[in-house]
Amino acid sequence: MTAAPAATGGHASHGGGRGDGPRHVAIIMDGNGRWAQRKGLPRVAGHRAGAEAVRKTLQAAADAGVEVLTIYAFSSENWRRSAEEVSDLKGLMRFYLERELATLEKERVQLRIIGDYRAFGPELSARLEKAVERTRTNTRLTLVIALNYGSRAEIAAACRSLATEARDGKIDPSAIDEEVVGRALQTSDWPELDLLIRTSGEQRLSNFLLWQAAYAELLFVDTLWPDFDEAAFNAALASYAARHRRFGGR
Ligand code: FPP
Repeated sequence: MTAAPAATGGHASHGGGRGDGPRHVAIIMDGNGRWAQRKGLPRVAGHRAGAEAVRKTLQAAADAGVEVLTIYAFSSENWRRSAEEVSDLKGLMRFYLERELATLEKERVQLRIIGDYRAFGPELSARLEKAVERTRTNTRLTLVIALNYGSRAEIAAACRSLATEARDGKIDPSAIDEEVVGRALQTSDWPELDLLIRTSGEQRLSNFLLWQAAYAELLFVDTLWPDFDEAAFNAALASYAARHRRFGGR
């Protein structure tokens, strides 16, 4: 990589935080349905196993000194799934929050949400907000869950807010550069995305962190998400480190 990456926000910088590993890793957790189908199980069983994989991956990320782990749990396109599956995913989220909040606290993990999570209704929204509030001062690792998230919608919202500021005379349009746009995104609190992993062999970004992935290393692995674990995460980190050794310089 030759050009210096544009900052996404105030603390933006690549790598080099707590070691040579990535500071910010994002994952498109794909393959729950196929995992379940191969085992002759209902799709929800795949999502349940996927939630277990989240637990293992979070632990591996914390142990490796990753600062931010962003996971795509529900895209704005996922509403097209059956009402039953959407309801299963909501139920799983509720269950995960209930069961894992103590672990997040114990492991000093801060929980944050990106995306329009309020579309999941007042009850789940309140639970999410409570978990975010309860973990607000934790600093070991930040777990960002993308819920009802779509990158183009995020960028459009940033454009709207900057246009409003310009109209109101709060910002000079000529001052709107990449850094200003980055700061208007929902990810503005976190370092640049270093590594984006997608499981299950699919090689698409699916409207996830399009702006943020501009300089990220992309890693596509064949593992179905429910089979992803500490070893798979560490292998991804090793692959990232090898690329850095080869292309170095940032
Ligand atoms: C993609 O697999 C996965 C999802 C759409 C949901 C991801 C949700 C979880 C991993 C569990 C809940 C998350 C948390 C944080 C508790 P897919 O269903 O598209 O798989 P397929 O492509 O094989 O059908």
